[in-house]
Amino acid sequence: MERKLREKAKKVLNANYNEEGFTIPCEGLYPFQWKWDSGFIAIGFAHFDMFKAKKEVTTLLDAQWENGFIPHIVFHNESDSYFPGPDFHKSELHPLASKKYKTTGITQPPVLGFVLQELYRIANDKIDVLNFIKTEIDKVYNNHKYFYENRDPNNEGLVYIYHNWESGTDNSPIWDSVWETMEKDTPHYKFERRDTTHVDASQRPSSREYDYYLHIIEIAKANNYDDVKIAELSPFLIQDPLFNAMLIKSNQALIDLYKIIGNNDDKIKTLKDWQSKSKPAFNDKLFDKELGAYVHYDLRNERPIRMITSSSFSPLFGGIPSQERAGVLVNTLKAKFGGDDKYLCASFDPENENFNPKKYWRGPVWVNLNWLLYYGLMNYGYDDLALRVKNDTIELITKCGFYEYFDPRKEIYKKECSGYGGNNFSWTAALLIDLLDN
Ligand code: SER
Repeated sequence: MERKLREKAKKVLNANYNEEGFTIPCEGLYPFQWKWDSGFIAIGFAHFDMFKAKKEVTTLLDAQWENGFIPHIVFHNESDSYFPGPDFHKSELHPLASKKYKTTGITQPPVLGFVLQELYRIANDKIDVLNFIKTEIDKVYNNHKYFYENRDPNNEGLVYIYHNWESGTDNSPIWDSVWETMEKDTPHYKFERRDTTHVDASQRPSSREYDYYLHIIEIAKANNYDDVKIAELSPFLIQDPLFNAMLIKSNQALIDLYKIIGNNDDKIKTLKDWQSKSKPAFNDKLFDKELGAYVHYDLRNERPIRMITSSSFSPLFGGIPSQERAGVLVNTLKAKFGGDDKYLCASFDPENENFNPKKYWRGPVWVNLNWLLYYGLMNYGYDDLALRVKNDTIELITKCGFYEYFDPRKEIYKKECSGYGGNNFSWTAALLIDLLDN
């Protein structure tokens, strides 16, 4: 049974692989290369095709800007099945943007540091993969340098994101309070959605939400994607626990890898300096004692966004909480997300009135967040709960297929399979392979 599932997962990945050296997240809905998708995809490929795993990473890094920035989409090919495409984003407005590829001017969570480490962990031929890492690691380091130098205006050790698409959790209810502040100044843009031609509109963000998404980018474009201007003007400026946890985890991965490589004491020292600033700041500023969870901080409006999401638990993966605080987090997870009637882990607090079990990041279970949660719980010795996350993930995929996201409510599966969004979704397949092989 598991062997068959693994074979199917390999087929999904191979079918989504493009000979130019990158893998689309899924056909139609996402026809280009996405940054954090590529990272998770590389981990899946590493288990059976290291050539493609390495290629995924090098192709993405080939689109890195001269200032270290890595864009969230690389438009390798023409496609009219996606909006907004390269003509909207116009990355060429930034003087240091990639000259080789059209890209977006926004980024996504910095997963590549720990992805390189995963490739090394999985590899049978460690020497070969280490040689590969030696050619790529400085680019990832430069990406982190970009974040600390350009995305941390108050020098706190916490970097901001300026767009909800940078968070990866596009339409989470945590952004609703930001949209309220933008309501007055955001026009009703004229545009043609393409996502809702592939997926039922009830499972996707609303068109008014798309107005906000486009409006933030219009402001950035009017300022040629200049970071200083964006920090000053963007109505969306958030310190995101998921994004910062990925950065901290990847910092640590780079430290470990540079130690194996040797001769990089200066970079190791800088990475350690970042860690010693970022970790305490994260724990001081982003932990909400009353809620017993990490939360987002709205830097533009200077207020915490006091809601619990699956991102709230990602610091476990980053090794950020103390063992005691990890216990508090686990209690919150079990109490709110972990009832017997639910699959772990809903992307948004099921007890909150804005929870929607079908709508993208407003409630459904996502396999990449489950993967982070699985390893995070293992880190802190919560093996049983980790196993439940793993088994829930496998069960959902076995029942429904390789969907983009899944309904967390168990009872609904008695009637129908409730996988939503894109089907044959690459990171669902990739991370399933990793979970099965470990
Ligand atoms: N996830 C976004 C979308 O749905 C883009 O990153 O289009």
